[in-house]
Amino acid sequence: MRDLILKALKKEGHISGEQLAKKLKISRTAVWKHIKELRKMGYQIDSLPHYGYSYIKSTSLLVPEEITVGLGNHIIGKHVLHHNEVTSTQDVADKLARGGAEEGLVVIAEKQTSGRGRRGRTWSSPDKSGIYLSVLLRPDLKPIHIIQIPLVAGVAVARAIQSITPLKPSIKWPNDIYIGNKKVAGILTEVNCDIDTVHYIVLGIGINVNTSTASFPKSIKTIATSISSEHKQKISRVSLLRQFLVEFEKVYIEFIAHGFSAIAPQWKNYNNTIGSHIKVSEGSKVITGKALDIDDDGFLIIESDDGEIKRIINADVSLNN
Ligand code: BTN
Repeated sequence: MRDLILKALKKEGHISGEQLAKKLKISRTAVWKHIKELRKMGYQIDSLPHYGYSYIKSTSLLVPEEITVGLGNHIIGKHVLHHNEVTSTQDVADKLARGGAEEGLVVIAEKQTSGRGRRGRTWSSPDKSGIYLSVLLRPDLKPIHIIQIPLVAGVAVARAIQSITPLKPSIKWPNDIYIGNKKVAGILTEVNCDIDTVHYIVLGIGINVNTSTASFPKSIKTIATSISSEHKQKISRVSLLRQFLVEFEKVYIEFIAHGFSAIAPQWKNYNNTIGSHIKVSEGSKVITGKALDIDDDGFLIIESDDGEIKRIINADVSLNN
């Protein structure tokens, strides 16, 4: 109902409570309650006697009313849930997945108190400054190919940043998004599967959007950045998030229809890893060498410093150049 009220307010400019109630077939009290709720969500709506309600300014919060209107997606973001604060959007999405939620569900939070990154790291998630979201996916995929999903998502994040800002994002294998030599976004893939079947994937995306770099924990200050700090101006989180959902839907549908080989060239287009001298850490095992390519499975092919060709499936990579 709130989206219908917003639609009417935007269309009419101003409209009385009585007219709104009539149009939407609800009581005037119900209209008033929804307006109160919208104001709480950050919408600026004025009300003047004899003039009615008028729409002044939309909210900067990542609420479904802003994210889904006119999006046109069929899978990703068909359902969007918004929270002001959660431990981790991954926890919320996982719980809903267990309860049978549909593929494409998106859980968004303004703030995470226990945001998590890959390999047990934390993901700094200060209030209303970044984008923190989880997408529920139910692809028909062999567990060995799960690694392709965050690569696919990486392409969508890079494309979204590129279309909303003049910045040039790049991707470090497998799925860290960089601007220059600093990380601006990360992707976490959590999977519920058995030996040969993927039941579901909760894909977590964290983007430092308007995050002040001064607020970064000490451990990441020299290696992380935010879009606003690179672009030297604040950008609309709503626009970036909507663009990500559009790009992800496109690339995900292409991936499902044609496999990773259709996405690999797009990933390579953005990558900063192939051709670089890198350090690969797999637990306590460290290899250095040159990144040669990714194969059609998304695995990284390297030539180690002692001349061996290796196929890396899952590891942390740092660029030595
Ligand atoms: C990484 O680069 O280590 C991955 C970071 C992923 C962070 C996102 S923020 C939304 C979702 N919820 C989490 O707790 N983590 C992911």
